[in-house]
Amino acid sequence: MRATRSWMLMRDGEAHRRLRGLANPLFTARAIREITPRIDGIVHQLMDDMGEGPGVDLIGSLAALVPVTVFCGLGGLPVEDRDLCRKWTDALGHVIDPAADEATRRVMNDAAEEFAAYIAEHLDRRRAAPQDDIISRLLLAEFDGEKLSDDEIIANVMMFFMGGHETTVNLIGNGILALLRHPDQLRILREEPGLIDNAIDELLRYDAPIQLVARITTGDIDLDGTTIPAGSKVMILLGAANRDPLRYDDPDRLDLRRTDVRPLSFGGGPHYCIGALLAKAEARLVFTELLRRHRNIQLTHGDIAWRPQVNIRGLRELRVDLTS
Ligand code: HEM
Repeated sequence: MRATRSWMLMRDGEAHRRLRGLANPLFTARAIREITPRIDGIVHQLMDDMGEGPGVDLIGSLAALVPVTVFCGLGGLPVEDRDLCRKWTDALGHVIDPAADEATRRVMNDAAEEFAAYIAEHLDRRRAAPQDDIISRLLLAEFDGEKLSDDEIIANVMMFFMGGHETTVNLIGNGILALLRHPDQLRILREEPGLIDNAIDELLRYDAPIQLVARITTGDIDLDGTTIPAGSKVMILLGAANRDPLRYDDPDRLDLRRTDVRPLSFGGGPHYCIGALLAKAEARLVFTELLRRHRNIQLTHGDIAWRPQVNIRGLRELRVDLTS
């Protein structure tokens, strides 16, 4: 909980503006364009390792490895440590789970301390010899004449891992499942690869990786004749808004050619996801390369197993038969 107090997600007003201003340059369209070749290399390598055949689990052998490998690579952390980083990230994920029991909280606490010590060690190395990576850039970043403290860098690097892991895994997993369940749409994407960016927005709308965000109202809010009093805890259902029939025609239909798709899956307002362009770049490279390599992708027979969380919507595994 101590670490979360320095997360930009948990700050408001000036404190949030400062943290966000310091980190924003790392995630602009230009910054993401510059690192795209590196992400592409990682995606190719992971797909070489995955291979093909019957019953390949696209979550375990691809989707779950992309964001953590990319973030270790960009962050300046050794890629060999990615399993360790994923273990800590998974444990820390329970910080937003109000039902976490005592044992889970202990594991989470240990993970927070170990992960912080690990990042601190790399911070010292980068201070001595800066490189072209996120930790070095955060060390050098200045906004309104101010710099980040070490604790803030450590907390927000953890936040980037957590914010970017499960969410991107689920964009890839939910997106591939939706395409496999709609072979006509998959065919359209194969025939018109230029549709990829629109397709990703539509897949984000159709099956959002984060289904809800929460807020506490700071004043009375009048919403369509109902007053939500100040101090209320409000759950905002992004997944429902994405399928609002007043906004989208036939909202339950997946339509990669739909126009004016602007999903709320990355939230909105000052806390709009800082990693949205990074996540989309990863998904674009994965979908494009998967379809290029494999002319035939079929769901392996069996049940589709979803994870049992309410706020995060994603698959436990996604078994497919892959042939080139
Ligand atoms: C498909 C993938 C992703 C989805 C669906 C997603 C979703 C979201 C949502 C809904 C929010 C707003 C939360 C709120 O308003 O309470 C958010 C914020 C955030 N996300 Fe993402 N995210 C994704 C990828 C990433 C990546 C790759 C990163 C890594 C850098 C990241 C880092 C963050 C951070 C740091 C915030 C807090 C921003 C702030 O408070 O100003 N996310 N994300």
